Amino acid sequence: MVIEHEDGAWGAYVPDLPGCVAVGKSRDEVERLIAEAIPLHIESMREQGEPVPRSDGRWLYDGPGRMSAGREVEEEARATTVAYPPKGDQDTANPLSRHRRMQVPSRVAAQRQRAAESSFSFSSEDSTGELLAVLAASVRTNGRICELGTGLGVGLAWIVAGLEPRTDVAVITIENDAHRSALAQEAAWPAWVQFVTGEATVELPQLGRLDLIFADAEGGKWYGLDLTLSALNPGGMLVLDDLVPQDWKSDTEKETHRQKMDEIRSQIFGNPDIVVTELGQAAGILLAVRRTAPSDI
Ligand SMILES: C[S@@+](CC[C@H](N)C(=O)[O-])C[C@H]1O[C@@H](n2cnc3c(N)ncnc32)[C@H](O)[C@@H]1O
Repeated sequence: MVIEHEDGAWGAYVPDLPGCVAVGKSRDEVERLIAEAIPLHIESMREQGEPVPRSDGRWLYDGPGRMSAGREVEEEARATTVAYPPKGDQDTANPLSRHRRMQVPSRVAAQRQRAAESSFSFSSEDSTGELLAVLAASVRTNGRICELGTGLGVGLAWIVAGLEPRTDVAVITIENDAHRSALAQEAAWPAWVQFVTGEATVELPQLGRLDLIFADAEGGKWYGLDLTLSALNPGGMLVLDDLVPQDWKSDTEKETHRQKMDEIRSQIFGNPDIVVTELGQAAGILLAVRRTAPSDI
């Protein structure tokens, strides 16, 4: 977004959204007007079936007189960031987020489509998916990854997208809903992806040590978290999402969710073998790594 000031008038436009402009008498006014105009403009593009471009989220301010100086607006602009949300992503509430996004891999888009057709609304958001792809890409040679809660395969698709074209890895995904698992399996997955239909806390202990676990089901997260932590290899990573209760939950459910997440935090932050941080994207992510002991090296 670019904000300009000339001859007492303020203007704003969005290079990524041609035609999305605002004019005002003050900087505050033009910022408010352009903030109102962006979602309307995007909505109208969506209604007309036009592709909505991704943004790098820059908020550029060109000080007084800069336009008349005739210099490139972006050249010396004072840059801060502004929320410029891809719709439907909860993490965009953070106005300091920079939303430079990966291109959504086609296999992710295909699983999203499957999820939409099945009215399944619990798939991972793109910001979570990107993290999964990045972490999957870092997994050691012959590494093993496990997802608890396949859903319709959106998170799995991000993991696979981060790994391809490797063939040395194994990805196991566990889902206790047989119908959902079957729908997810309809896609063409690499041979190193294994679907398990069953209860996460029963299946997980049979898998041996893992290098990356995405805990996205009640089993192994809300209960049986000790099994998940025990399954991590030294240096192995755990991604646990939904720290913040979803909007659709009732007040009572939200309170239960918060209490449960606090218990999970205590269990993980209190474990001397684990290094952990919380990330603010999506509905809150906890990223933990099992320490490598000297005897492991
Ligand atoms: C949030 S969704 C998973 C979304 C998926 N991981 C993604 O990234 O798109 C949670 C899934 O976990 C499954 N699930 C819930 N409890 C489970 C358990 N104890 N064992 C295995 N799967 C479970 C649910 O049926 C649901 O499909």
